Amino acid sequence: MSEQAQTARAHWSGRWAFFLVTVGSAVGLGNIWKFPYMTGSNGGSAFVLVYLCCILGIGVPLLMAESMLGRRGQGSPVGSMRVLADEAGATRLWQVIGYIGIVGAFLILSFYSVVAGWVLDYTWQAAEGFKALPKEAFAEAFGALLASPGRLIFWHTVFMAMSALVVLGGVTGGIERANKIMMPALFGILVFLVGYGAVAADLPAAWRFLFHFDPSAINRSVLFAAMGHAFFTLSLGMGAIITYGSYLERDVSIPRTGLAIAGADTLVALLAGLAIFSIVFAQGLEPAAGPGLILQTLPLAFSQMPGGHAVGLLFFVLVVFAAWTSAISLLEPGVSLLNERFDMGRKQAVVVLCSGVWLLGIAVALSFNDWSGFTLFGLGLFDFLDTLTTKIMMPLAGLLIALFAGWTMKRAHVFDEIRMGSRVFVLWYNVVRYLSPVAIVIIFLNVVGVIG
Ligand code: PHE
Ligand code: NA
Repeated sequence: MSEQAQTARAHWSGRWAFFLVTVGSAVGLGNIWKFPYMTGSNGGSAFVLVYLCCILGIGVPLLMAESMLGRRGQGSPVGSMRVLADEAGATRLWQVIGYIGIVGAFLILSFYSVVAGWVLDYTWQAAEGFKALPKEAFAEAFGALLASPGRLIFWHTVFMAMSALVVLGGVTGGIERANKIMMPALFGILVFLVGYGAVAADLPAAWRFLFHFDPSAINRSVLFAAMGHAFFTLSLGMGAIITYGSYLERDVSIPRTGLAIAGADTLVALLAGLAIFSIVFAQGLEPAAGPGLILQTLPLAFSQMPGGHAVGLLFFVLVVFAAWTSAISLLEPGVSLLNERFDMGRKQAVVVLCSGVWLLGIAVALSFNDWSGFTLFGLGLFDFLDTLTTKIMMPLAGLLIALFAGWTMKRAHVFDEIRMGSRVFVLWYNVVRYLSPVAIVIIFLNVVGVIG
């Protein structure tokens, strides 16, 4: 990286800032849209159990490792890996971690933005108020949205424009401020919805569905889906955490913030799950409804609850916001690479990247209707991109990060960044050296059918 870029690299103001933006990246559609529908489609508690184990054994340790790589590398995901590989006297091929991340983030954003578009469309509907209709009408309404290329592309375009605008504003200016109000508000409304579930819907059934201990329901596809989702929800392996880590002040404790971020992310997902399944079971809806689950469930509840008009609107606005801050973190790594490597100004980098994502997103939007006949490896474009990124690219990048941090970097350098009490350091270090990589490889092999 040039010296100029080094000195120009803005740092987050204050010790809370890294926490806030990283929570902003982590908490998003993954928690509120994806976690509930994945849980519903993968047998409930079996999925939740594996997911929680993956968060603890793979997600949290790698979140710390990635923050460390960013803070020590001080560059884009690619630039940071080059600096760190040089420092460790290792091959520069390790830069591949950065490239997988940036390509992966590009692909994720193309469908993430389309789903955020669904949420924008529902925000619009929520502003008018959801009419009290029979439950089938809500499933039909979601189907009608998917069948409309115009609506999908319009809202996808709005969302990409919103994201591009913030990233144009630069790191400290655009992203930091609003998180401080929006994240606690989102948390508050989820707690309110769980309360609604307790009073007016079936919270005990939701609790049983999520937490009933039943390891016999775990199978290959549950393992694979849960591991992928642990990466997705913590924004791992896509360069986002490396990039944000590079703006992190030296005196902030990586382990403490890492734990807090993962804790907040998990809590939001579990609250969303409890709220949604309370309604699903009370209304006799289908838990395995797929990607439309929350959009067929919550509007039904909003149409019935007292004050549902205001609550519904507030809820969707906050979800849009959560998706927005995550999308920003999917753009930032690519922008910093184009900036650092290809000498593009910020404006140019944002325009190039966002136009590419926007075009691919249009194909994703069309894959739900006009182009639905088009498949890759037997999957529609949306499922294909989701599987490729979440289940393959993210765990692969995670594996490489664990190997690099655990085996290639000098232990003294790792220790210097992580600096916890020495016992805890040894525990974390061994998890990153052995447990996380072995777990990722076992789950991979399991899926390929080599073992198990
Ligand atoms: N973690 C985000 C979510 O749960 C998605 C994301 C993935 C963001 C990867 C950045 C990088 O919605
Ligand atoms: Na998340």
